[in-house]
Amino acid sequence: MLFTRPKLYILFFIVAFGCHTGKHLTEYQITKDIVSDKAMVVTAHPFATQVGVDILKSGGNAIDAAIGVQFALQVCFPVAGNIGGGGFLMYRESNGKVHALDFREKAPAAASKDMYLDAKGNIIEDLSTFGHLAAGVPGSVDGMWEAYQKFSRLKDWKKLVKPSYEGAKNGILLTPREASGFNNNAEEFLKANGRPTVYGSQKWKAGDILKQTELAETLRLIMENGRDGFYKGKVADLIVAEMKKGKGIITHEDLENYHSKWRDPVLFSYRGYEIASMPPPSSGGIALLQLLKMTEKIEIQDNDWHKTPLTHYIIEAEKRVYADRSKHLGDADFYPVPIKTLTSDAYIKERMSDFNPTKASYFEDVEAGNAYESDQTTHFTIVDEEGNAVSLTTTLNGGYGSMVVVEGAGFLLNNEMDDFSSKPGTPNLYGLIGAEANKIEPGKRMLSSMTPTIISRDGRLKATVGTPGGSTIITSVFQTIVNIIDFKMNAYESVAAPRFHHQWRPEQVYYEDNCFTPETLKSLSIMGHSMERRGPIGRVEAIVVDKNGRLTGGADPRGEDDAKGY
Ligand code: GLY
Repeated sequence: MLFTRPKLYILFFIVAFGCHTGKHLTEYQITKDIVSDKAMVVTAHPFATQVGVDILKSGGNAIDAAIGVQFALQVCFPVAGNIGGGGFLMYRESNGKVHALDFREKAPAAASKDMYLDAKGNIIEDLSTFGHLAAGVPGSVDGMWEAYQKFSRLKDWKKLVKPSYEGAKNGILLTPREASGFNNNAEEFLKANGRPTVYGSQKWKAGDILKQTELAETLRLIMENGRDGFYKGKVADLIVAEMKKGKGIITHEDLENYHSKWRDPVLFSYRGYEIASMPPPSSGGIALLQLLKMTEKIEIQDNDWHKTPLTHYIIEAEKRVYADRSKHLGDADFYPVPIKTLTSDAYIKERMSDFNPTKASYFEDVEAGNAYESDQTTHFTIVDEEGNAVSLTTTLNGGYGSMVVVEGAGFLLNNEMDDFSSKPGTPNLYGLIGAEANKIEPGKRMLSSMTPTIISRDGRLKATVGTPGGSTIITSVFQTIVNIIDFKMNAYESVAAPRFHHQWRPEQVYYEDNCFTPETLKSLSIMGHSMERRGPIGRVEAIVVDKNGRLTGGADPRGEDDAKGY
Protein backbone atom coordinates (compact mmCIF):
# COMPACT_ATOMS: atom_id res chain seq x y z
CA MET A 1 0.00 0.00 0.00
CA LEU A 2 1.39 3.41 -1.00
CA PHE A 3 -0.14 5.18 1.97
CA THR A 4 1.97 3.79 4.79
CA ARG A 5 -0.29 4.15 7.74
CA PRO A 6 1.00 5.15 11.16
CA LYS A 7 4.08 7.05 9.99
CA LEU A 8 2.11 9.90 8.47
CA TYR A 9 0.21 10.72 11.60
CA ILE A 10 0.37 13.78 13.73
CA LEU A 11 -1.15 12.28 16.82
CA PHE A 12 -1.40 15.35 18.92
CA PHE A 13 -0.23 18.92 18.74
CA ILE A 14 -0.78 22.16 20.54
CA VAL A 15 -1.28 25.52 18.91
CA ALA A 16 -0.13 27.96 21.57
CA PHE A 17 -0.32 31.71 21.31
CA GLY A 18 1.15 34.58 23.29
CA CYS A 19 0.77 34.98 27.01
CA HIS A 20 -2.16 34.71 29.32
CA THR A 21 -4.89 37.23 28.51
CA GLY A 22 -7.38 37.15 31.32
CA LYS A 23 -10.52 35.25 30.39
CA HIS A 24 -9.40 34.21 26.94
CA LEU A 25 -8.03 30.86 26.00
CA THR A 26 -4.34 31.20 25.32
CA GLU A 27 -3.93 27.97 23.47
CA TYR A 28 -5.79 25.37 21.57
CA GLN A 29 -4.92 21.73 21.94
CA ILE A 30 -5.65 19.99 18.71
CA THR A 31 -6.08 16.24 18.61
CA LYS A 32 -6.17 14.39 15.35
CA ASP A 33 -6.42 10.76 16.35
CA ILE A 34 -8.21 9.75 19.49
CA VAL A 35 -9.87 6.80 21.21
CA SER A 36 -12.59 7.28 23.83
CA ASP A 37 -15.02 5.13 25.70
CA LYS A 38 -18.13 7.24 26.08
CA ALA A 39 -18.62 10.17 23.73
CA MET A 40 -16.83 12.17 21.04
CA VAL A 41 -16.94 15.39 19.02
CA VAL A 42 -14.96 16.07 15.83
CA THR A 43 -15.16 19.50 14.21
CA ALA A 44 -13.11 21.87 12.06
CA HIS A 45 -12.04 23.98 15.04
CA PRO A 46 -10.93 23.30 18.64
CA PHE A 47 -13.20 26.00 20.09
CA ALA A 48 -16.26 24.36 18.54
CA THR A 49 -15.13 20.88 19.55
CA GLN A 50 -14.77 22.04 23.17
CA VAL A 51 -18.24 23.60 23.14
CA GLY A 52 -19.67 20.27 21.97
CA VAL A 53 -17.77 18.24 24.57
CA ASP A 54 -18.85 20.60 27.38
CA ILE A 55 -22.50 20.23 26.38
CA LEU A 56 -22.21 16.44 26.29
CA LYS A 57 -20.53 16.39 29.70
CA SER A 58 -23.30 18.52 31.16
CA GLY A 59 -25.89 15.92 30.17
CA GLY A 60 -26.73 17.00 26.64
CA ASN A 61 -27.26 14.49 23.88
CA ALA A 62 -25.70 14.54 20.40
CA ILE A 63 -28.38 16.95 19.15
CA ASP A 64 -27.76 19.39 22.01
CA ALA A 65 -24.04 19.28 21.29
CA ALA A 66 -24.64 19.71 17.54
CA ILE A 67 -26.67 22.87 18.16
CA GLY A 68 -23.91 24.26 20.36
CA VAL A 69 -21.28 23.41 17.75
CA GLN A 70 -23.24 24.95 14.87
CA PHE A 71 -23.39 28.29 16.68
CA ALA A 72 -19.77 27.99 17.87
CA LEU A 73 -18.53 27.50 14.31
CA GLN A 74 -20.17 30.79 13.37
CA VAL A 75 -17.98 32.45 16.00
CA CYS A 76 -14.64 30.69 15.47
CA PHE A 77 -14.80 29.49 11.87
CA PRO A 78 -16.73 32.12 9.90
CA VAL A 79 -15.23 30.97 6.60
CA ALA A 80 -17.92 28.29 6.61
CA GLY A 81 -19.52 28.02 10.06
CA ASN A 82 -22.66 30.04 9.93
CA ILE A 83 -26.01 31.35 10.95
CA GLY A 84 -26.34 33.00 7.52
CA GLY A 85 -26.21 29.77 5.52
CA GLY A 86 -27.71 26.31 5.69
CA GLY A 87 -26.98 22.61 5.80
CA PHE A 88 -28.08 19.06 6.42
CA LEU A 89 -28.23 17.04 9.61
CA MET A 90 -28.31 13.26 9.81
CA TYR A 91 -29.28 11.90 13.21
CA ARG A 92 -29.20 8.27 14.24
CA GLU A 93 -30.82 7.48 17.56
CA SER A 94 -29.20 4.70 19.55
CA ASN A 95 -32.32 2.62 18.85
CA GLY A 96 -31.43 2.69 15.14
CA LYS A 97 -33.99 5.24 13.93
CA VAL A 98 -32.44 7.62 11.41
CA HIS A 99 -33.62 11.15 10.69
CA ALA A 100 -32.56 13.62 7.99
CA LEU A 101 -33.11 17.34 8.52
CA ASP A 102 -32.87 19.69 5.55
CA PHE A 103 -32.08 23.26 6.55
CA ARG A 104 -30.74 24.19 3.14
CA GLU A 105 -31.23 27.80 2.03
CA LYS A 106 -34.10 28.65 -0.30
CA ALA A 107 -34.37 30.96 -3.29
CA PRO A 108 -36.17 34.17 -2.24
CA ALA A 109 -39.71 34.67 -3.57
CA ALA A 110 -38.47 37.31 -6.01
CA ALA A 111 -35.88 34.95 -7.54
CA SER A 112 -36.27 33.94 -11.17
CA LYS A 113 -34.74 31.53 -13.64
CA ASP A 114 -32.73 34.12 -15.54
CA MET A 115 -31.77 36.42 -12.69
CA TYR A 116 -28.05 35.99 -13.27
CA LEU A 117 -28.20 36.41 -17.08
CA ASP A 118 -27.76 39.52 -19.20
CA ALA A 119 -30.06 40.55 -22.04
CA LYS A 120 -28.24 38.19 -24.37
CA GLY A 121 -28.71 35.26 -22.04
CA ASN A 122 -25.10 35.17 -20.87
CA ILE A 123 -24.10 34.75 -17.24
CA ILE A 124 -23.18 38.05 -15.57
CA GLU A 125 -19.87 37.34 -13.93
CA ASP A 126 -19.84 37.10 -10.11
CA LEU A 127 -23.53 37.96 -9.69
CA SER A 128 -24.43 34.54 -8.25
CA THR A 129 -21.25 34.27 -6.16
CA PHE A 130 -20.43 37.71 -4.81
CA GLY A 131 -22.53 40.31 -3.06
CA HIS A 132 -26.11 40.59 -1.92
CA LEU A 133 -27.94 38.97 -4.83
CA ALA A 134 -25.95 35.75 -4.33
CA ALA A 135 -27.63 35.01 -0.99
CA GLY A 136 -30.38 32.47 -0.46
CA VAL A 137 -32.73 32.65 2.53
CA PRO A 138 -30.67 31.29 5.45
CA GLY A 139 -31.80 28.04 7.08
CA SER A 140 -29.30 27.31 9.87
CA VAL A 141 -31.08 28.92 12.82
CA ASP A 142 -34.41 27.37 11.88
CA GLY A 143 -32.68 24.01 11.44
CA MET A 144 -31.15 24.15 14.90
CA TRP A 145 -34.46 25.25 16.40
CA GLU A 146 -36.28 22.39 14.68
CA ALA A 147 -33.72 19.81 15.83
CA TYR A 148 -33.95 21.24 19.36
CA GLN A 149 -37.76 20.99 19.45
CA LYS A 150 -37.74 17.39 18.35
CA PHE A 151 -34.70 15.83 19.98
CA SER A 152 -33.04 17.97 22.67
CA ARG A 153 -32.47 16.19 25.93
CA LEU A 154 -31.37 19.25 27.89
CA LYS A 155 -34.39 21.33 26.85
CA ASP A 156 -32.36 24.42 27.62
CA TRP A 157 -31.84 26.43 24.41
CA LYS A 158 -30.06 29.26 26.19
CA LYS A 159 -27.43 26.91 27.52
CA LEU A 160 -26.71 25.69 23.98
CA VAL A 161 -26.24 29.16 22.46
CA LYS A 162 -24.53 30.79 25.44
CA PRO A 163 -20.95 29.58 24.85
CA SER A 164 -21.06 31.12 21.37
CA TYR A 165 -22.60 34.34 22.62
CA GLU A 166 -19.82 34.58 25.18
CA GLY A 167 -17.15 33.68 22.65
CA ALA A 168 -18.34 36.45 20.33
CA LYS A 169 -18.63 38.97 23.16
CA ASN A 170 -15.42 38.25 25.06
CA GLY A 171 -13.37 37.25 22.07
CA ILE A 172 -11.81 34.05 20.83
CA LEU A 173 -8.27 33.22 19.91
CA LEU A 174 -7.49 33.33 16.20
CA THR A 175 -5.75 30.34 14.65
CA PRO A 176 -3.16 30.75 11.88
CA ARG A 177 -5.68 29.74 9.22
CA GLU A 178 -8.44 32.06 10.34
CA ALA A 179 -6.02 34.99 10.61
CA SER A 180 -4.65 34.45 7.11
CA GLY A 181 -8.14 33.84 5.75
CA PHE A 182 -9.27 37.27 6.96
CA ASN A 183 -6.11 38.97 5.65
CA ASN A 184 -6.24 37.26 2.25
CA ASN A 185 -9.84 38.35 1.77
CA ALA A 186 -9.61 41.88 3.20
CA GLU A 187 -10.10 43.54 -0.19
CA GLU A 188 -13.08 41.36 -1.03
CA PHE A 189 -14.73 42.17 2.30
CA LEU A 190 -14.29 45.86 1.61
CA LYS A 191 -15.58 45.56 -1.94
CA ALA A 192 -18.68 43.59 -0.95
CA ASN A 193 -19.57 45.79 2.00
CA GLY A 194 -18.31 49.24 1.04
CA ARG A 195 -17.16 49.71 4.63
CA PRO A 196 -14.70 48.07 7.00
CA THR A 197 -16.18 44.96 8.56
CA VAL A 198 -15.12 42.98 11.59
CA TYR A 199 -13.12 40.47 9.56
CA GLY A 200 -11.41 42.90 7.21
CA SER A 201 -10.85 45.70 9.69
CA GLN A 202 -7.20 45.08 10.55
CA LYS A 203 -4.19 42.95 9.74
CA TRP A 204 -4.72 39.79 11.78
CA LYS A 205 -2.21 37.33 13.14
CA ALA A 206 -2.48 34.00 14.89
CA GLY A 207 -3.02 34.52 18.58
CA ASP A 208 -5.00 37.74 18.18
CA ILE A 209 -8.31 37.91 19.99
CA LEU A 210 -11.30 38.32 17.72
CA LYS A 211 -14.22 40.09 19.39
CA GLN A 212 -17.50 40.20 17.47
CA THR A 213 -19.75 42.64 19.30
CA GLU A 214 -22.50 42.84 16.68
CA LEU A 215 -22.55 39.07 16.30
CA ALA A 216 -22.75 38.73 20.09
CA GLU A 217 -25.92 40.84 20.10
CA THR A 218 -27.40 38.71 17.31
CA LEU A 219 -26.58 35.55 19.25
CA ARG A 220 -28.09 37.08 22.38
CA LEU A 221 -31.35 37.67 20.50
CA ILE A 222 -31.31 34.09 19.22
CA MET A 223 -30.46 32.84 22.72
CA GLU A 224 -33.40 34.77 24.23
CA ASN A 225 -35.96 34.27 21.46
CA GLY A 226 -35.05 31.07 19.64
CA ARG A 227 -35.91 30.98 15.96
CA ASP A 228 -37.77 34.29 16.14
CA GLY A 229 -34.60 36.01 17.30
CA PHE A 230 -33.30 35.59 13.77
CA TYR A 231 -36.29 35.46 11.42
CA LYS A 232 -38.25 38.28 13.09
CA GLY A 233 -37.48 41.53 14.86
CA LYS A 234 -34.16 43.34 14.87
CA VAL A 235 -32.02 40.75 13.08
CA ALA A 236 -34.60 40.30 10.31
CA ASP A 237 -34.81 44.09 9.95
CA LEU A 238 -31.03 44.29 9.64
CA ILE A 239 -30.92 41.55 7.00
CA VAL A 240 -33.60 43.27 4.93
CA ALA A 241 -31.89 46.66 5.32
CA GLU A 242 -28.63 45.06 4.19
CA MET A 243 -30.40 43.63 1.15
CA LYS A 244 -31.67 47.05 0.17
CA LYS A 245 -28.15 48.46 0.26
CA GLY A 246 -26.86 45.95 -2.26
CA LYS A 247 -29.78 45.13 -4.59
CA GLY A 248 -30.47 41.91 -2.70
CA ILE A 249 -33.97 40.42 -2.75
CA ILE A 250 -34.51 38.67 0.59
CA THR A 251 -37.61 40.10 2.30
CA HIS A 252 -39.22 39.83 5.73
CA GLU A 253 -41.73 37.38 4.24
CA ASP A 254 -38.91 35.18 2.91
CA LEU A 255 -37.41 35.07 6.38
CA GLU A 256 -40.67 34.38 8.20
CA ASN A 257 -41.68 31.73 5.68
CA TYR A 258 -38.41 29.81 5.90
CA HIS A 259 -38.87 26.34 7.39
CA SER A 260 -36.48 23.45 7.51
CA LYS A 261 -37.84 20.05 6.62
CA TRP A 262 -37.49 16.45 7.83
CA ARG A 263 -36.84 14.21 4.85
CA ASP A 264 -36.69 10.47 4.27
CA PRO A 265 -33.03 9.53 4.44
CA VAL A 266 -31.39 7.58 1.62
CA LEU A 267 -30.93 4.09 3.15
CA PHE A 268 -29.01 1.25 1.54
CA SER A 269 -26.51 -1.49 2.27
CA TYR A 270 -22.86 -1.82 1.30
CA ARG A 271 -21.09 -5.12 1.93
CA GLY A 272 -23.38 -5.86 4.87
CA TYR A 273 -23.22 -2.37 6.40
CA GLU A 274 -26.27 -0.11 6.56
CA ILE A 275 -25.63 3.35 5.16
CA ALA A 276 -27.84 6.39 5.82
CA SER A 277 -27.26 9.61 3.92
CA MET A 278 -28.92 12.79 2.72
CA PRO A 279 -31.65 12.81 0.04
CA PRO A 280 -32.45 15.72 -2.34
CA PRO A 281 -31.99 18.63 -2.36
CA SER A 282 -28.61 17.11 -1.73
CA SER A 283 -27.23 14.95 -4.49
CA GLY A 284 -24.96 13.40 -1.86
CA GLY A 285 -26.99 10.41 -0.69
CA ILE A 286 -28.07 9.24 -4.15
CA ALA A 287 -24.60 9.73 -5.65
CA LEU A 288 -22.98 7.95 -2.71
CA LEU A 289 -25.42 5.05 -3.10
CA GLN A 290 -24.63 4.80 -6.80
CA LEU A 291 -20.85 4.89 -6.23
CA LEU A 292 -20.90 2.32 -3.44
CA LYS A 293 -23.32 0.01 -5.26
CA MET A 294 -21.15 0.15 -8.38
CA THR A 295 -18.11 -0.63 -6.21
CA GLU A 296 -19.91 -3.47 -4.45
CA LYS A 297 -20.07 -5.26 -7.80
CA ILE A 298 -16.30 -5.82 -7.73
CA GLU A 299 -14.09 -7.62 -5.25
CA ILE A 300 -11.50 -5.55 -3.44
CA GLN A 301 -8.33 -7.08 -2.00
CA ASP A 302 -6.21 -5.52 0.72
CA ASN A 303 -3.45 -4.43 -1.64
CA ASP A 304 -5.76 -2.87 -4.26
CA TRP A 305 -5.71 0.54 -2.55
CA HIS A 306 -5.01 3.23 -5.19
CA LYS A 307 -3.67 0.65 -7.64
CA THR A 308 -4.50 1.12 -11.31
CA PRO A 309 -7.39 -1.36 -11.81
CA LEU A 310 -9.42 -0.22 -8.79
CA THR A 311 -8.66 3.47 -9.37
CA HIS A 312 -9.68 3.18 -13.02
CA TYR A 313 -12.95 1.48 -12.02
CA ILE A 314 -13.74 4.17 -9.44
CA ILE A 315 -12.96 7.02 -11.85
CA GLU A 316 -15.27 5.47 -14.42
CA ALA A 317 -18.01 5.06 -11.81
CA GLU A 318 -17.56 8.68 -10.71
CA LYS A 319 -17.97 9.96 -14.28
CA ARG A 320 -21.28 8.17 -14.66
CA VAL A 321 -22.57 9.27 -11.27
CA TYR A 322 -21.73 12.95 -11.81
CA ALA A 323 -23.26 12.86 -15.28
CA ASP A 324 -26.48 11.60 -13.66
CA ARG A 325 -26.22 14.25 -10.98
CA SER A 326 -26.00 17.00 -13.53
CA LYS A 327 -29.07 15.91 -15.43
CA HIS A 328 -31.45 14.43 -12.92
CA LEU A 329 -30.92 15.99 -9.53
CA GLY A 330 -32.56 19.02 -7.96
CA ASP A 331 -35.01 19.88 -5.20
CA ALA A 332 -37.53 17.03 -5.23
CA ASP A 333 -40.22 19.42 -3.94
CA PHE A 334 -40.05 21.14 -7.34
CA TYR A 335 -38.82 18.53 -9.78
CA PRO A 336 -39.65 14.82 -10.09
CA VAL A 337 -36.19 13.45 -9.32
CA PRO A 338 -36.22 9.83 -10.55
CA ILE A 339 -34.89 8.49 -7.26
CA LYS A 340 -36.24 4.95 -7.67
CA THR A 341 -34.62 4.50 -11.05
CA LEU A 342 -31.32 6.12 -10.15
CA THR A 343 -30.95 3.89 -7.11
CA SER A 344 -32.24 0.62 -8.56
CA ASP A 345 -29.89 -2.36 -8.94
CA ALA A 346 -30.85 -2.81 -12.58
CA TYR A 347 -30.04 0.80 -13.45
CA ILE A 348 -26.71 0.75 -11.60
CA LYS A 349 -25.70 -2.48 -13.32
CA GLU A 350 -26.66 -1.07 -16.69
CA ARG A 351 -24.74 2.12 -15.99
CA MET A 352 -21.45 0.19 -15.64
CA SER A 353 -22.21 -2.24 -18.47
CA ASP A 354 -20.03 -0.33 -20.95
CA PHE A 355 -17.10 -0.16 -18.52
CA ASN A 356 -13.86 -0.99 -20.32
CA PRO A 357 -11.18 -2.30 -17.90
CA THR A 358 -8.32 -1.08 -20.09
CA LYS A 359 -9.51 2.24 -21.43
CA ALA A 360 -10.95 5.52 -20.11
CA SER A 361 -14.34 6.50 -21.48
CA TYR A 362 -14.39 9.94 -23.00
CA PHE A 363 -17.00 12.61 -22.64
CA GLU A 364 -16.80 15.72 -24.77
CA ASP A 365 -14.74 18.24 -22.84
CA VAL A 366 -16.13 21.60 -21.81
CA GLU A 367 -14.58 24.72 -20.47
CA ALA A 368 -15.27 24.43 -16.75
CA GLY A 369 -14.60 26.36 -13.60
CA ASN A 370 -11.98 24.86 -11.36
CA ALA A 371 -12.76 22.42 -8.60
CA TYR A 372 -10.09 23.76 -6.27
CA GLU A 373 -11.86 24.41 -3.01
CA SER A 374 -11.47 22.83 0.33
CA ASP A 375 -12.21 25.20 3.19
CA GLN A 376 -15.67 26.29 2.21
CA THR A 377 -18.40 24.33 3.95
CA THR A 378 -17.68 22.45 7.14
CA HIS A 379 -18.62 19.14 8.66
CA PHE A 380 -18.83 17.91 12.22
CA THR A 381 -19.72 14.67 13.82
CA ILE A 382 -20.77 13.74 17.35
CA VAL A 383 -21.54 10.56 19.29
CA ASP A 384 -23.03 10.91 22.75
CA GLU A 385 -22.93 8.60 25.77
CA GLU A 386 -26.10 6.77 24.74
CA GLY A 387 -24.72 6.08 21.27
CA ASN A 388 -26.87 8.67 19.47
CA ALA A 389 -24.93 10.04 16.50
CA VAL A 390 -25.00 13.27 14.51
CA SER A 391 -23.38 13.85 11.15
CA LEU A 392 -23.88 17.46 10.07
CA THR A 393 -22.56 19.42 7.09
CA THR A 394 -23.17 23.16 6.92
CA THR A 395 -22.10 25.90 4.56
CA LEU A 396 -22.09 29.43 3.23
CA ASN A 397 -21.08 27.85 -0.12
CA GLY A 398 -17.83 29.61 -1.08
CA GLY A 399 -15.36 30.62 1.63
CA TYR A 400 -17.05 33.49 3.58
CA GLY A 401 -20.07 33.05 1.27
CA SER A 402 -21.20 36.24 -0.48
CA MET A 403 -18.63 38.24 1.58
CA VAL A 404 -21.55 40.40 2.76
CA VAL A 405 -21.54 40.96 6.52
CA VAL A 406 -24.98 42.07 7.70
CA GLU A 407 -24.39 45.54 9.12
CA GLY A 408 -25.35 45.74 12.79
CA ALA A 409 -25.77 41.95 13.02
CA GLY A 410 -22.18 40.88 12.37
CA PHE A 411 -22.55 37.66 10.37
CA LEU A 412 -21.89 36.65 6.79
CA LEU A 413 -24.54 35.79 4.25
CA ASN A 414 -24.19 32.78 2.00
CA ASN A 415 -23.68 32.76 -1.77
CA GLU A 416 -25.65 29.57 -2.12
CA MET A 417 -27.67 30.80 -5.14
CA ASP A 418 -24.65 29.75 -7.23
CA ASP A 419 -25.51 26.12 -6.46
CA PHE A 420 -28.52 26.50 -8.74
CA SER A 421 -27.97 26.02 -12.42
CA SER A 422 -27.97 29.69 -13.49
CA LYS A 423 -27.76 28.65 -17.11
CA PRO A 424 -28.16 25.00 -18.12
CA GLY A 425 -24.87 23.55 -19.32
CA THR A 426 -22.70 26.30 -17.78
CA PRO A 427 -20.54 25.25 -14.84
CA ASN A 428 -20.86 26.82 -11.40
CA LEU A 429 -18.17 27.69 -8.82
CA TYR A 430 -17.21 24.01 -8.59
CA GLY A 431 -17.33 23.29 -12.30
CA LEU A 432 -20.62 21.45 -11.80
CA ILE A 433 -23.11 21.50 -14.62
CA GLY A 434 -26.83 21.58 -13.98
CA ALA A 435 -30.03 21.29 -15.96
CA GLU A 436 -33.78 21.87 -15.73
CA ALA A 437 -33.96 19.86 -12.47
CA ASN A 438 -31.87 22.51 -10.73
CA LYS A 439 -33.09 25.71 -12.37
CA ILE A 440 -33.88 28.70 -10.14
CA GLU A 441 -37.47 28.92 -8.87
CA PRO A 442 -38.89 30.99 -6.00
CA GLY A 443 -38.85 29.03 -2.74
CA LYS A 444 -36.80 26.19 -4.21
CA ARG A 445 -33.67 24.76 -2.61
CA MET A 446 -30.50 24.67 -4.66
CA LEU A 447 -28.86 21.31 -5.34
CA SER A 448 -26.07 20.40 -2.95
CA SER A 449 -23.26 17.87 -2.78
CA MET A 450 -23.18 17.75 1.01
CA THR A 451 -23.13 14.14 2.16
CA PRO A 452 -23.43 13.74 5.93
CA THR A 453 -23.51 9.98 6.39
CA ILE A 454 -23.98 7.45 9.20
CA ILE A 455 -23.03 3.78 8.96
CA SER A 456 -24.26 0.93 11.13
CA ARG A 457 -23.96 -2.84 11.19
CA ASP A 458 -26.42 -5.33 12.63
CA GLY A 459 -28.32 -2.45 14.21
CA ARG A 460 -25.25 -0.97 15.92
CA LEU A 461 -23.48 2.28 15.08
CA LYS A 462 -20.30 1.75 13.07
CA ALA A 463 -19.24 5.19 11.83
CA THR A 464 -20.21 8.74 11.02
CA VAL A 465 -18.52 10.56 8.15
CA GLY A 466 -18.70 13.84 6.24
CA THR A 467 -16.63 16.63 4.74
CA PRO A 468 -16.60 20.02 3.04
CA GLY A 469 -15.19 20.36 -0.46
CA GLY A 470 -17.93 21.46 -2.89
CA SER A 471 -18.19 18.98 -5.73
CA THR A 472 -15.49 16.77 -4.16
CA ILE A 473 -17.60 16.08 -1.06
CA ILE A 474 -19.26 13.01 -2.53
CA THR A 475 -16.06 11.34 -3.72
CA SER A 476 -14.26 12.13 -0.44
CA VAL A 477 -17.04 10.58 1.65
CA PHE A 478 -17.13 7.62 -0.72
CA GLN A 479 -13.35 7.01 -0.45
CA THR A 480 -13.44 7.36 3.34
CA ILE A 481 -16.17 4.71 3.57
CA VAL A 482 -14.23 2.37 1.29
CA ASN A 483 -11.14 3.00 3.45
CA ILE A 484 -13.12 2.04 6.57
CA ILE A 485 -15.04 -0.93 5.21
CA ASP A 486 -12.84 -2.44 2.51
CA PHE A 487 -9.39 -1.45 3.74
CA LYS A 488 -10.17 -1.72 7.48
CA MET A 489 -8.58 1.64 8.28
CA ASN A 490 -9.28 3.26 11.62
CA ALA A 491 -10.93 6.68 11.81
CA TYR A 492 -7.75 8.74 11.47
CA GLU A 493 -6.22 6.57 8.79
CA SER A 494 -9.41 6.77 6.77
CA VAL A 495 -9.55 10.58 6.79
CA ALA A 496 -5.81 11.19 6.42
CA ALA A 497 -5.36 8.94 3.37
CA PRO A 498 -4.76 10.90 0.13
CA ARG A 499 -7.77 11.30 -2.14
CA PHE A 500 -8.62 11.71 -5.83
CA HIS A 501 -11.67 13.05 -7.63
CA HIS A 502 -13.42 12.99 -11.00
CA GLN A 503 -16.73 14.77 -11.59
CA TRP A 504 -17.48 13.91 -15.24
CA ARG A 505 -16.72 17.41 -16.44
CA PRO A 506 -14.04 18.63 -16.74
CA GLU A 507 -12.45 15.49 -18.15
CA GLN A 508 -9.84 15.44 -15.40
CA VAL A 509 -8.75 13.27 -12.50
CA TYR A 510 -7.61 15.48 -9.63
CA TYR A 511 -5.34 13.87 -7.07
CA GLU A 512 -3.47 14.86 -3.94
CA ASP A 513 0.21 14.43 -3.14
CA ASN A 514 1.19 10.86 -2.28
CA CYS A 515 -2.00 9.55 -3.83
CA PHE A 516 -0.45 7.39 -6.55
CA THR A 517 2.94 5.93 -7.35
CA PRO A 518 4.61 7.26 -10.53
CA GLU A 519 3.91 3.88 -12.15
CA THR A 520 0.20 4.08 -11.35
CA LEU A 521 0.02 7.63 -12.64
CA LYS A 522 1.68 6.55 -15.84
CA SER A 523 -0.59 3.58 -16.39
CA LEU A 524 -3.74 5.64 -15.72
CA SER A 525 -2.52 8.22 -18.24
CA ILE A 526 -1.86 5.51 -20.82
CA MET A 527 -5.44 4.32 -20.35
CA GLY A 528 -6.58 7.81 -21.33
CA HIS A 529 -7.13 9.53 -17.98
CA SER A 530 -5.98 13.11 -17.74
CA MET A 531 -4.28 13.33 -14.35
CA GLU A 532 -3.84 16.63 -12.50
CA ARG A 533 -2.22 17.03 -9.09
CA ARG A 534 -3.91 19.60 -6.88
CA GLY A 535 -4.04 20.88 -3.30
CA PRO A 536 -6.03 19.30 -0.48
CA ILE A 537 -9.33 17.63 -1.30
CA GLY A 538 -11.84 18.02 1.53
CA ARG A 539 -11.47 17.94 5.30
CA VAL A 540 -13.14 14.76 6.43
CA GLU A 541 -14.24 14.18 10.02
CA ALA A 542 -15.04 10.65 11.12
CA ILE A 543 -15.89 8.68 14.20
CA VAL A 544 -15.54 4.92 13.84
CA VAL A 545 -16.58 2.35 16.46
CA ASP A 546 -13.80 -0.22 16.78
CA LYS A 547 -14.22 -3.95 17.36
CA ASN A 548 -14.16 -3.43 21.13
CA GLY A 549 -16.98 -0.93 20.95
CA ARG A 550 -14.72 2.06 21.61
CA LEU A 551 -15.03 5.33 19.69
CA THR A 552 -12.09 6.23 17.48
CA GLY A 553 -12.02 9.78 16.14
CA GLY A 554 -10.25 11.09 13.06
CA ALA A 555 -9.85 14.84 12.49
CA ASP A 556 -8.52 15.64 9.05
CA PRO A 557 -4.83 16.66 9.11
CA ARG A 558 -5.49 18.97 6.15
CA GLY A 559 -6.87 21.60 8.55
CA GLU A 560 -7.02 22.68 12.19
CA ASP A 561 -9.71 20.08 12.77
CA ASP A 562 -9.92 18.67 16.25
CA ALA A 563 -11.26 15.45 17.80
CA LYS A 564 -12.01 15.23 21.51
CA GLY A 565 -13.75 12.62 23.59
CA TYR A 566 -14.02 11.24 27.06
N1 GLY B 1 -22.37 24.66 -1.46
C1 GLY B 1 -21.81 23.39 -1.65
C2 GLY B 1 -22.82 22.32 -1.62
O1 GLY B 1 -23.87 22.49 -1.04
O2 GLY B 1 -22.62 21.29 -2.17
